[in-house]
Amino acid sequence: MANHGTPFPAIRMRRMRRDPFSRALMRENAVNASDLIYPVFILEGVNQREPVLSMPGVERVSVDLLLKVAGECVALGIPVLALFPVIDSALKTPDGIEATNPDGLVPRAVRALKQAYPELGVLTDVALDPYTSHGQDGLIDDNGYVLNDVTTEMLVRQALTQADAGVDVVAPSDMMDGRVGAIRAGLEEKGHIHTRIMAYSAKYASAFYGPFRDAVGSAKNLGKGDKNTYQMDPANGDEALREVALDLREGADMVMVKPGMPYLDIVRRVKDEFKVPTFAYQVSGEYAMIKAAAQNGWLDHDKVMMESMLAFKRAGADGVLTYFALDIARKLKAGQAG
Ligand code: PBG
Repeated sequence: MANHGTPFPAIRMRRMRRDPFSRALMRENAVNASDLIYPVFILEGVNQREPVLSMPGVERVSVDLLLKVAGECVALGIPVLALFPVIDSALKTPDGIEATNPDGLVPRAVRALKQAYPELGVLTDVALDPYTSHGQDGLIDDNGYVLNDVTTEMLVRQALTQADAGVDVVAPSDMMDGRVGAIRAGLEEKGHIHTRIMAYSAKYASAFYGPFRDAVGSAKNLGKGDKNTYQMDPANGDEALREVALDLREGADMVMVKPGMPYLDIVRRVKDEFKVPTFAYQVSGEYAMIKAAAQNGWLDHDKVMMESMLAFKRAGADGVLTYFALDIARKLKAGQAG
């Protein structure tokens, strides 16, 4: 049948996809090394490295080796490194007081990093789980319930210990109510007016953290316990917006959604609603899934890794904490050279 002059199809979407130049021209998002935050597990000793079995390619390293990692981050343009300590089980107590030790592993690592690489941002986690004998993020009562306000007092002391050591960003990952405000007040009072707070605002009670708990050795302390009384229910979305609003009101400079890939809807909603620096954490279990599939030859490792980063950017994330950070930055650099 004649079509009376109306061209068909009226719009050819494939026209712009035909050649690399026009695909490049219309590309909306890009991944840069400056989008990355590299989480590193640290342990005591000298020249120590231990693989994390559930996270192929990830190691726990002693502080001297951490400095080498930091040097590579600087060379590759990764702006921030995040520290997660493996604490000697002899130092773990019900109240996690080791978190406030000015000569503890984290403050020593922060001082060494800031001395060697002043230009590299250093971020530390504020939560008690690496330090408690029961593996919870805070202090518990006789029933194992995590107590909000006494925990918050301890978290403020932990954050101040980190700030005194010179950390650039404190990142409360504990999900206690009011802790961002309390930490901000504590920092101001002690003159740490430049210390940034990246709040784990929408942190879900997720099974995707499994390999992380192996890496820091808190899984055996936690046992069959869960974190459902403080981390968010994966069923909820609106509640994440309330959490973010509260943390911003309390003085957070940046907010985070965690886990990452299964929660990109939350990243987008947070970015649209608040238009503040918004980050996502591609957590240990997400990393492990991609690694395992790639090791089996079921997925193309590098392609999936880069696609996952683009997905975070497209969802509105300003940056991503990811165990792939070094791999991504190396790949970006090689691409520029080639
Ligand atoms: C500790 C903390 C966790 C992670 C970051 N900080 C674990 C948890 O809440 O149990 C998880 C990170 C990951 O899985 O990569 N509060």
